[in-house]
Amino acid sequence: MCGIVGCKGVDNIKEFLIEGLKELEYRGYDSAGIGVIDKEDLKVIKAVGKLVNLERKLKNVKFIDPKVGIGHTRWATHGKPTEINAHPHRGEFSAVVHNGIIENYQEIKRFLQEKNIEFISQTDTEVIVRLFEYYYEGDSFEAFKKVLDRIDGAYAILLITKKEPQKIFFAKKGSPLIVANNNDKFFFASSDAPLIGYASAACYLEDGEFGYVDDKIHLFKDNKEVSLNLKPLPTNKESAKKGGFRFYMEKEIYEQADVLKENTLGRNTKEGIKFDELDKEFFEGINNIIISACGTSYHAGLVGKYLLERDAKIRTNAEVASELRYRNPLLTKDTLFIVISQSGETADTLETLKMAKRAGLKTLALCNVDNSSIVREADKTILLRAGIEKGVASTKAFATQVMTLWMLSNYLSNKNEYEAINEAIEVTKVDGALHEKIKRLSKRYLHGHGFFYIGRDIFYPLALEGALKLKEISYIHAEGYPAGEMKHGPIALADPELFVVALLSKNILFEKTKSNIEELSSRDATILTISSEYIDMTDDFIKIKETSHPMVEFFEMMVITQLLALEVAIRRGNDVDMPRNLAKSVTVE
Ligand code: G6P
Repeated sequence: MCGIVGCKGVDNIKEFLIEGLKELEYRGYDSAGIGVIDKEDLKVIKAVGKLVNLERKLKNVKFIDPKVGIGHTRWATHGKPTEINAHPHRGEFSAVVHNGIIENYQEIKRFLQEKNIEFISQTDTEVIVRLFEYYYEGDSFEAFKKVLDRIDGAYAILLITKKEPQKIFFAKKGSPLIVANNNDKFFFASSDAPLIGYASAACYLEDGEFGYVDDKIHLFKDNKEVSLNLKPLPTNKESAKKGGFRFYMEKEIYEQADVLKENTLGRNTKEGIKFDELDKEFFEGINNIIISACGTSYHAGLVGKYLLERDAKIRTNAEVASELRYRNPLLTKDTLFIVISQSGETADTLETLKMAKRAGLKTLALCNVDNSSIVREADKTILLRAGIEKGVASTKAFATQVMTLWMLSNYLSNKNEYEAINEAIEVTKVDGALHEKIKRLSKRYLHGHGFFYIGRDIFYPLALEGALKLKEISYIHAEGYPAGEMKHGPIALADPELFVVALLSKNILFEKTKSNIEELSSRDATILTISSEYIDMTDDFIKIKETSHPMVEFFEMMVITQLLALEVAIRRGNDVDMPRNLAKSVTVE
């Protein structure tokens, strides 16, 4: 996702901005840029691709008297990753960098266009600088405040202007932003790594805070000046990148609530689901859906099968891409072909997409990487907005895939589950006490001859995914099974050394799944049940919140299965982020 840096009064402005952006590289980006008020001039330099491209351009740029500077790495959401769409976005006399999404940008853009103000990019961000200049009547801070009143959505914003070359204006709502100073030197960043070594303490801004920096930091909330709440900065950059977590995977599990918020922003609205990237005509004449994917993405696809068929009433099948590819499937033109991929580069998935296109099918990609091979190939794409995922074992990308499929099934069925979607996001916030409990429990699950994860309906694909997570990082044998199928064979393995993780929904087939658990318990299997209702025959129990929506249960159970895999793997001394034999992006067959 995007990264922001900014500074005032530093000795080498180019170095701070570029080195700062490098610290944010791990978040993923496809273009970058900086903007500097140099003496009385505003200089904006941008480049597509990696930071080396920007550095190359900057070699020929000499600053005479640089006052303030801002920098940005952009992960494309609105508009392709081009130089024009890269930040900073400039107007006549100002420039802005922004993380997040301005939800009402189209309405503001139309308003300004009617006043003959021209736009050059496809981004939502450009409205900030255009609006600022439209409101400017001699007082920059007043104009900036008017902008904040007018825009909706999520943002971290830095704005500089030739009108006041010594100031940086800032605002935060929904996207992180940090400000720090060291005497007369001032620094901004969207996470703390770029600030380490430059300042010893920083203020992690809260939602609704805004202000400006001149010779001090002026911070406001609800239009009243407030004092800075300074916290010490970490001293180790590597751990700062991991946010103090032991592994990226752990950090990514903790990030899921934020990432899901981003994923649903502007899409899950009180009036129902909106997808800027789709129109209802695209689905005309569609009677079938085939979902093609690999690994974790395939499991998300299976959840989609249950949701789309039940709610949108469209016959849906989820297929493992490497199988689909070679079995000469019957592809009819009334079928929508959906591919799901975190990386957008998985060879098997890509080939099935090409196959569907050759057969004349409409195609839709659910993908996390804009401009990836799969996105370029598909007719339409919904970007997952999960941010870069570093852990090889997918967690937050899976969460956004399932959420996107849920929103898609709402979109196609005109169902409005606004509240339930928000509730589902809420339950993915990791509760420290729960994590501690799982950490403790994990020591009892290190031996044995294997795991069965069982569930019914949408909890069956979650059982498959829970088992995959465990085997990927702990190297313990685990299988996901439909709970009702255990008695047709696998139950022969039941003994005290067989571990069963039972996903027991209160909303879907509770009694039936409970009976399946009973069958296993009476054969002395060791059982860990995850449910909102306690059952007697379980050895261990993790309680989830009571809810009337199965998808809310799904998301809470998902986090628990991820944490369980993580803790078992850590106890076994494994490298969680880079498990043996696995690759993050599999571009070979
Ligand atoms: C690899 C990864 C898995 C991933 C699968 C599909 O095997 O290790 O975590 O689920 O590829 O990747 P994709 O990028 O297409 O989602």
